[in-house]
Parts: sequence; structure tokens; C-alpha cells
Amino acid sequence: MAHYRIAPSLLSADFARLGEEVREVVAAGADWIHFDVMDNHYVPNLTFGPMVCQALRAHTEVPIDVHLMVQPVDALAQAFCRTGADIVTFHPDASTHVDRTLQLIKAEGKQCGLVFNPATPLSVLEWTLDKIDVVLLMSVNPGFGGQGFIDHTLRKCEQARKLIDASGRDIRLEVDGGIKVDNIRRVADAGADTFVAGSAIFGQPSYRAVIEAMRAELAR
Ligand code: DX5
Ligand code: ZN
Repeated sequence: MAHYRIAPSLLSADFARLGEEVREVVAAGADWIHFDVMDNHYVPNLTFGPMVCQALRAHTEVPIDVHLMVQPVDALAQAFCRTGADIVTFHPDASTHVDRTLQLIKAEGKQCGLVFNPATPLSVLEWTLDKIDVVLLMSVNPGFGGQGFIDHTLRKCEQARKLIDASGRDIRLEVDGGIKVDNIRRVADAGADTFVAGSAIFGQPSYRAVIEAMRAELAR
């Protein structure tokens, strides 16, 4: 399958050199830039906001994939739509009115998606799959990079793949957390087509070597 996307997460990048990091990782073959927004409320960590997204927008033309780990969601979702995000995903348990939040992102002309924590069921997809562009499965508990991949995500990924295929819609199935060269193939086999990787890429001597090794695994 030629449609795989690799989305390096800036969470593990050097925050003092974010623009350069974005340019380097795109030059190394990144398809999307994954932008983890944490608010020290929905998750116990704090990262960056819409102004940083806007500053980075000038450094790349690849899609910026904003993963909101914030509560409340709506105001920030709209702010990111207006500061350079191409895709905005949020956790349905963080929004009081999920359908309204999805509509708000679509009204801004951006792609929208829902994010599922390791213990969150996929049931909300029954009423949202006809409206979303991305299903993002967390394979770690959100809040930190560098955690170990939670294996039951593979079974959940198979479930999500079935639901997406049955919908007949063009929806990306993205997995986030603990993805490395040595497990990306298993995640793809479970049905994922888009892979977030933070610590596996940033901090390594050659971003290109890691991304190429991931693509080689995906091509096997
Ligand atoms: C965790 C974030 C992830 C994280 C992935 O809350 O959503 O995007 O950066 O990092 P790794 O690849 O190191 O698990
Ligand atoms: Zn993320």
C-alpha cells in the first residue's frame, strides 16, 4: 500500500529550535507534522499553543496535524484552524458537545478527527464516522513521549479498520504512541495507515535513517 503517512511528533523535538526541527524532519521525508497540544488540565503536561503553530506554519508546506489534549476544546480548536492547522483532532471525552466541535472545525474548512485513549471505546464512531476525516488511536496514555506501546491497541485498530471500511469513506486511521521501527509493521498489519512517532525520530542522529527504516518495514 502506497498510502502510508509518517507523522513525526514535535513533542520530542528540540523546543529551542522548532523551526529548524520541522524543516529537517520534512527534508528527511516526514509526510505530516504532528503537533501535540497539552494544557496541564486534560493531561498532566503543558506544551505549545496556536501562536507557536502560526510561527511554524511558515517553515513547511506539509500538513500540520494538531492533536488537542485540552479541555474545553472549542475555542482552541477554532484558534488552531486559524493559525495554520490542516487537521485538528480532539478527544471526544474532552468535549461536551462532540458533534458541535466537529462542525466547528469543518466550518473553518479544516479536516477533523477524534482521538481515543487506550481505555476509551470506539462507540462514538457510530454517530460521527460520516463526519470525520481521521480516527486517531492512542497506543499510550496521553501526556508524554517515550512511553511503551500498549498492545491491545492492535485489536482496537482492527476494529476501527472494519468500521472505516464499512463506511466507505476516505478516513485515515492514525496510531500515536510508542511507535518504532520494530513495531510499525504490526501496527500497519492491524489496519493503520498513518503513524505518529516522536522519540523514535527526534533525538536520533539521522531522522532520514529512521524514516527510511520505517518505510522499508511498511513496504515489506
Ligand atoms: C502523547 C502524544 C504523542 C507522543 C508520541 O500524548 O500524543 O504524540 O509525542 O511520542 P512517542 O512516539 O515518543 O511515544
Ligand atoms: Zn499526539
